[in-house]
Amino acid sequence: MPRSALISRRSLLAIPAALAAGPAAASPSSAFPRGFTWGLAASAPQTESAAGRGRSIWDVFAAEPGRIKDGSRPDVCTAFDQRYPADLDLVAQAGFNAFRFSVAWPRVQPDGRGAASPVGLDLYDRMVDAMLSRRITPWVTLFHWDLPAALPGGWLERDTCARFADYAALVGRRLGDRARHFIMLNEPSVVAVLGHAYGGHAPGLHSREAWAAATHHQNLAQGLGFAALRAALPRPAAVGTTLALSPVHPADASPEAAAAARAMDDAWNRAFLDPLFGQPYPRSLDADMAKLLRPGDLAHIAARPDFLGVNYYARSHVKAAPGSVLGAASGPPPAGTPRTGIGWAIEPGGLVEELRGIRDSYGNPAVYITETGAAFPDPAPAPQGIIPDPARVDFLRAYLGAAAQAAAEGCRLGGVFAWTLTDNWEWAEGYGPRFGLVQVDRATLRRTPRQSLGWLGRCARANRVV
Ligand code: FCB
Repeated sequence: MPRSALISRRSLLAIPAALAAGPAAASPSSAFPRGFTWGLAASAPQTESAAGRGRSIWDVFAAEPGRIKDGSRPDVCTAFDQRYPADLDLVAQAGFNAFRFSVAWPRVQPDGRGAASPVGLDLYDRMVDAMLSRRITPWVTLFHWDLPAALPGGWLERDTCARFADYAALVGRRLGDRARHFIMLNEPSVVAVLGHAYGGHAPGLHSREAWAAATHHQNLAQGLGFAALRAALPRPAAVGTTLALSPVHPADASPEAAAAARAMDDAWNRAFLDPLFGQPYPRSLDADMAKLLRPGDLAHIAARPDFLGVNYYARSHVKAAPGSVLGAASGPPPAGTPRTGIGWAIEPGGLVEELRGIRDSYGNPAVYITETGAAFPDPAPAPQGIIPDPARVDFLRAYLGAAAQAAAEGCRLGGVFAWTLTDNWEWAEGYGPRFGLVQVDRATLRRTPRQSLGWLGRCARANRVV
């Protein structure tokens, strides 16, 4: 789990030939295979303004007092919906060849169902064209947590799965003549665990039943979405999904912590990986899933993704928390582990560990790191010109080194996307954490590149860590 997760986050087409041919040969000097994807990642609810879209569950959540650390709402964000041409200029000029963004479901279908809003899809149509004209490959995420508030019950309701499939088809039909990379869901485990078991994320629920329903219904929505999107695409595309994955370790030597770590590994990682790759749910979920599973569900969920998107920030260190919904809570990393500016552990070794595990347990699928990154404060007083952020460069260098190591060990790694282009709205943390490779002044929305943008762009051009 990236976020000192559980509680404290409040509190193929285009798969490169070298990959398709088999394990990439990587060495420290030529770390990545030819055709490697070097991208930046972002999402609609964290960057777009609310103008012209319906309400999402995050609008509802943010309007409740005390939910968001700085009391902010996702109504301006970085105004990416208006400023995307200049933002994409920065991406292209730096040297990246891909950009991962998300489509806001409540912009396309303000009520979460029915005909597409005429202006909603137009925006993404123009964004895709703006990327292609800059030689940036668009990677379209269909769902990055902004569920339409109008859908009764949200992920608690099975009907939401069919609604998602309809929406996926609408997007695929409109963008699929040009976009060739689609990601179904972003981090469904975060939505299930933080949103439905621990309550720090929208919709703010706290029950085991809600968590299980959100887990199964997102898996089923994803499976139905794969089929609906593939059927709707005017030409074939690479279709995958993105999971938040992290090796789970007990935070102390007690047997209770060991049991909690196993339970959390099942809830966080395996409840999504296992059925996606054709296995049943982990046995510890049997009783939860018995109430939800219907004949045929597991066949829909086992969708044969063209690639697996992996978001990795840090390992998860778990202690027992008997009173909590999942019986587990986030514990401290081993003493001496370095931390980012917002306290997340810096553990590049966990990325190698995670990618090896996927290689060995799930048939070595094609993988892309669809997010990794770090928030650090800027130097004060603010310097003129490019902002030095050596700590972020060091972080990215270490994580890219881990990615290269995994590729050298035979993981079929096709690319890396850093989180994120610009500072943005970091969910329950509000505007505080600064994850951008480009700084955004909150008062003026003015963009100022940080040193890491140019550095990572040079890596992209050289196709190795420079
Ligand atoms: C990930 C989310 C992304 C962002 C980063 C920091 O878990 O997918 O939207 O919040 O963390």
